[in-house]
Amino acid sequence: MRIDIITVLPELIKSPFEASILKRAIEKGLVEVHFHNLRDYTTNKQKSVDDYQFGGGAGMVMSIQPIDDCITKLKRERAYDEVIYMTPDGETLHQGMANSMSLLKNIIILCGHYKGVDQRVRDQFITREISIGDYVLSGGELGAAVLCDSIIRLIPGVLSNETSALTDSFQDNLLAPPVYTRPAEYKGWKVPDILLSGNFPKIEEWREQKAYEHTKNRRPDLLKE
Ligand code: ADE
Repeated sequence: MRIDIITVLPELIKSPFEASILKRAIEKGLVEVHFHNLRDYTTNKQKSVDDYQFGGGAGMVMSIQPIDDCITKLKRERAYDEVIYMTPDGETLHQGMANSMSLLKNIIILCGHYKGVDQRVRDQFITREISIGDYVLSGGELGAAVLCDSIIRLIPGVLSNETSALTDSFQDNLLAPPVYTRPAEYKGWKVPDILLSGNFPKIEEWREQKAYEHTKNRRPDLLKE
């Protein structure tokens, strides 16, 4: 998979790709991530990438020209499955979206800033608009990092069997059950006996029950889906 990220702040989004699972996925060649600084595409003398809103109003709007030039250049080089715009008014990211997007070959992610992008960018270039939740961030970069992490860890070969994503919360509309590690007793606080029993069918049954109870308590809406 190849991900092209278009941003005015590349320094803000690079670091999540330089550690742990994402770093290893890149090193293994399972994903390529390229960053494009919008300022390198602007043709105006001041190197500005935004301008005042027509009709008045507070806040600057990202201009269409540098975005058009960047996306058009990338599209000339290869075909893209999606051109995604990170925005608080997009569809809210969930595990099902990450699952299906992990099967794509090439995607572009445009990070918004200020009051957002000129509407013509959305009309002409964007195929999907995604939010990471009902709150407003200073820009799309952190949202793009969250989206990329949720997708990349699902690409076949990125996680080992032990860390398989199949047992993650949300994979089957259930939250994950509690987990424990050594010591079996700490300050008198004990690990549930069943987990030490070696009876794996019973352990599996216990985990399913706990996952169900946890989901019922915390996210009953998931059980209705
Ligand atoms: N940009 C600003 N807020 C955002 C959000 N909640 N999700 C995605 N991109 C954003």
